[in-house]
Amino acid sequence: MGAAIAREMGRAGARVAVHYHNERTRAGALAAQIGHGAEAFQADLSDTDACAALWQAVSGRFGRIHTLVNNAGIALCSALDGDLAGWEATMAVNLRAPGILSKLAIAHFLEHGGGRIINITSRAAFRGDQPPYLAYAASKAGLVTLTRSIARGFGKAGVLAFNVAPGFTRTDMAGAFIDQYGEDYASSDIALTRLTQPGDIAPLVTFLASGLADHATGCTIDVNAASYVH
Ligand SMILES: NC(=O)c1ccc[n+]([C@@H]2O[C@H](COP(=O)([O-])OP(=O)(O)OC[C@H]3O[C@@H](n4cnc5c(N)ncnc54)[C@H](OP(=O)(O)O)[C@@H]3O)[C@@H](O)[C@H]2O)c1
Repeated sequence: MGAAIAREMGRAGARVAVHYHNERTRAGALAAQIGHGAEAFQADLSDTDACAALWQAVSGRFGRIHTLVNNAGIALCSALDGDLAGWEATMAVNLRAPGILSKLAIAHFLEHGGGRIINITSRAAFRGDQPPYLAYAASKAGLVTLTRSIARGFGKAGVLAFNVAPGFTRTDMAGAFIDQYGEDYASSDIALTRLTQPGDIAPLVTFLASGLADHATGCTIDVNAASYVH
């Protein structure tokens, strides 16, 4: 999903910082394909220092940043035992990292005349999720509220914040879920014939980043093919 968003933002004229964790080659190739000064930056977002270092690296290289998209996320399947590793890892990547990056972005935007934060949350934040994904759903609900608080707290200073909440979307993450529950489970509750793809999400992110939707600050845009309408 991040690759589709980066491509779409590049097509719209943005200079894109492509963040990756493990996929160095894919991220480098993507940045080269996007062109227009795009560059790839590595960071393990489960590490608090690495989050700050990522922001410093991008702002050091690009100068003014206009938009932060918090897209990276993990969906770990965890059992109902006392092991908190999955819970901690999920909260670190899905909620703490966007929190750290958002705080750094807000400070930068306040200094430079504003900016936009777009958080990729999930249908799970509203509908809930399967029992192995308790932490995932909780982390995404936290992200929704982070966005709303930024929107309410910093709008007058020109800092806007939006949620995009995909439903089941055909990505690497979805592949693991399909392996576990089957394709029918993923597609049975949607109102359209094909599963959502990253290309169905990316244009909305670009639109929110464009400034054409600033009075929707604080909103959540659902992209779940009417599988959960609330
Ligand atoms: N797919 C769905 O059905 C669905 C539905 C609702 C919401 N979402 C949300 O959409 C977003 C994108 O998901 P996706 O489906 O595209 O997942 P994905 O294919 O598994 O990609 C996850 C991305 O997160 C990065 N990442 C994972 N762990 C990281 C870490 N510790 N530090 C830094 N980066 C890390 C990965 O980087 P590398 O590849 O470089 O390792 C990858 O770019 C996530 O926030 C997800 O929760 C997805």
